[in-house]
Amino acid sequence: MTVLPRQQQVLRRKGICSLPSERPLGRQEGRSRRARCASKTLALSGNGARSVESPVANLVDGRAADGPDLTVKHFSGLTLPNPFVIGSGPPGTNYAVMKKAFDEGWGAVIAKTVSLDSSKVVNVTPRYAKLRCQKEVIGWENIELISDRPLETMLDEFKRLKQEYPDRILIASIMEEYNKDAWEELIERCEETGVDAFEINFSCPHGMPERKMGMAMGQDCDLLEEVCGWINAKATKPVWAKMTPNITDIAFPARTALTAGCEGVAAINTITSVMGINLETLRPEPSVEGYTTPGGYSSRAVKPIALAKVMSIAQLIRSDFDNNRDLSGIGGVETGQDAAEFLLLGANSVQVCTGVMLHGYPLVKQLCGGLQQFMSNHGFNSIEDFRGASLPYFTTHHELVRMQRESIAAKKAARVGLSGDNEWSGDGFVKEAESMVAN
Ligand SMILES: Cc1cc2nc3c(=O)[nH]c(=O)nc-3n(C[C@H](O)[C@H](O)[C@H](O)COP(=O)(O)O)c2cc1C
Repeated sequence: MTVLPRQQQVLRRKGICSLPSERPLGRQEGRSRRARCASKTLALSGNGARSVESPVANLVDGRAADGPDLTVKHFSGLTLPNPFVIGSGPPGTNYAVMKKAFDEGWGAVIAKTVSLDSSKVVNVTPRYAKLRCQKEVIGWENIELISDRPLETMLDEFKRLKQEYPDRILIASIMEEYNKDAWEELIERCEETGVDAFEINFSCPHGMPERKMGMAMGQDCDLLEEVCGWINAKATKPVWAKMTPNITDIAFPARTALTAGCEGVAAINTITSVMGINLETLRPEPSVEGYTTPGGYSSRAVKPIALAKVMSIAQLIRSDFDNNRDLSGIGGVETGQDAAEFLLLGANSVQVCTGVMLHGYPLVKQLCGGLQQFMSNHGFNSIEDFRGASLPYFTTHHELVRMQRESIAAKKAARVGLSGDNEWSGDGFVKEAESMVAN
């Protein structure tokens, strides 16, 4: 790993030390705990939400009371009772909903993104549009901005939550303009409330880029490097940079943020989208006074894109950062099996936003139950037993062609015996002769 002197300083100041890299798979180790996986099932349905049938985990303060261990120790020093994190958005918008998230057992909560001056944030309605497949919601567009609630109110609520839930993880999502003083003030004021970490919103695709915020910052590596430098010089808490998928290669900004001292990255934020055109009115949706603006796409339909981005960042973390940075996977998660896929690609937590809007906060019990079921089926005791296990099975197309050619040649050789007389060997002579006998 190449660790720059500035980055070393930042990591030291935040009291963060490296953890050992991946452990081998513990298939046999986990067998004895399999029987104890929760078995009750609960079907959730709602406004177009698919019916999710899954075991329901028994959670105490977010910790699985039985079955495989879901605890996650992040490289940034955060310990989560389970890997399921409320993604920044409506599910983390005020005290009441964040409290509900903790009560139901979510592993951590990321609040709705805040900035210094909420009076500049004006939301419109309608601001959501759904894509349905046979009545089930598979895609969701939003043109919602960051929090329009006064910062003072949000900070008071962070403080109250940390007083009431001192052992649970509350993460502030923050965003500001290209202004060092503004970032420093925002970080200081959030840290005073006792929040455990920061997620930096470098990825909101609509509204904020007009002020050079959000995605506009996250797409420009020079700007990103400078702003991440300011943030990491100021923050004493871990920092995750939330990445936009609306870029040719997400590894570039991810590398920039991690090299500038961020302890982790989160991916993905929403994908720029136009949900559709109303063929009666000929107006695009969601229509506000007959007009719209391109929004951000989320929910199940984005999962394959999110997995590809997470895979690419996980490879980067392994190649350039000694597998020693946090990666929070986001996009279309509604089941424990969805989450298992992100973890198998190297993520060490999984965020859910639209899934909570469709299914509600109790979903976490099914997410944990489904994940435990997957772990029990494979005999995994802990998340580190399988985290990143699918990552080595990605290669180039060129390699796929070579491997397939070799495999076909081997099968052919096995079928027809030797392909030429110069292949006869002394040691295998009898076997070689036998392989060419027809009856
Ligand atoms: C209505 C809505 C509002 C959102 N607001 C924010 C936000 O304020 N800050 C942020 O970082 N991401 C925001 N997001 C993005 C989500 O956190 C998440 O990255 C994205 O929706 C993909 O995950 P999902 O499919 O689980 O929703 C929002 C998403 C939705 C649907």
